[in-house]
Parts: sequence; structure tokens; C-alpha cells
Amino acid sequence: MVEVLVLYYSRSGRTETLANWIAQGVESVEGASAKVKRVDYATVHDFVSCDAVAFGSPNYFSYMAGLIKDFFDKALSIREKVAGKPSAAFTSGGGASNSALLSLEKMISSFRLEKVADGLVSQGEPSEENQKICKKLGETLAKRALERTEVPKD
Ligand SMILES: Cc1cc2nc3c(=O)[nH]c(=O)nc-3n(C[C@H](O)[C@H](O)[C@H](O)COP(=O)(O)O)c2cc1C
Repeated sequence: MVEVLVLYYSRSGRTETLANWIAQGVESVEGASAKVKRVDYATVHDFVSCDAVAFGSPNYFSYMAGLIKDFFDKALSIREKVAGKPSAAFTSGGGASNSALLSLEKMISSFRLEKVADGLVSQGEPSEENQKICKKLGETLAKRALERTEVPKD
């Protein structure tokens, strides 16, 4: 069983909705389970122990929310332990700007995670189209995590 961590911050619930849809996509894949955690309840250990990870944040002043940034700051010392994990990002904003997404994707590259899909920029209330994309994102993360844990045949 592989575990996909869906780590997010949300104040008014939109990013949380996206996180839960991603988790549904993960759970639709046999052999995969989702662990959805708001970042203030997560620890660096959650990051180390998962097999793949999705990061979600509202767009705050064209950047990720401060608590998500703080999580990455705390995780610096375990950077080597998480390198290579499949990852993707998702954001919710009042506008259509992708700047918060870019800030999360910069972290994906700084931590040398494997970006498995283009991230999602959701504008305003999460839409049905967002739901489809989130479910697909969850599925993609779960399948890639399973592939990585497969024992190579000789
Ligand atoms: C402090 C703060 C700063 C924000 N800055 C931006 C911004 O720069 N660009 C934008 O499109 N939306 C901005 N917003 C709007 C939020 O990103 C948007 O309402 C988002 O959907 C909230 O997500 P949540 O429901 O998960 O908390 C800001 C909201 C707050 C509270």
C-alpha cells in the first residue's frame, strides 16, 4: 500500500475542497491511500514517510500561504530523505494568477521532488472542471508512487 500525502492550507475552505478531491483520486487507485492534512497539523515526519505528496495553498499576495512556506523551511534538514518523491501542486485564488503555483513548484524543484503533473490554478469557487483535474492529479500521483515501489523483475 502506498500513501499519498495531501498537504494544504486553507482559511475559507476552497483549497480544502481541492485537497479532498485529490484524495478521492488517490483512493480510486487500488493499493493507494490518501492522508489529507492541513499544514498546521502536519509534521516533517509526514513528508518523510509518505510515498508521494500534493501541496496546496491559497494565493496570498502572489505567493503560497505563510504556513506552507514555514513547513518547507522546517523541512530543510530532511531534504535528502524526500528527494525523488512524486509530487504536484494546486492553488486557489481570487484571480487567475499562477504565481502562487509557481512558488509551490519552485519548492518541488528545490526539494528535488519529481513533478508528475502540471499543477492546478483554481479561480474563485472550485468548479466541476477543477474536480476532474484534481481527481486525475490524485490518480497520477498514486500510480507513480506504486510504480516506484514495484520490485524490478530480473
Ligand atoms: C491575505 C490574503 C491575500 C490574498 N492575496 C491574493 C492574491 O494575491 N491573488 C489572488 O488571486 N487572491 C488572493 N487572495 C484571495 C484568496 O487566494 C482566495 O480567496 C482563495 O480562494 C482562498 O482560499 P481558501 O478558501 O482555501 O482559504 C488573498 C486572500 C487573503 C486572505
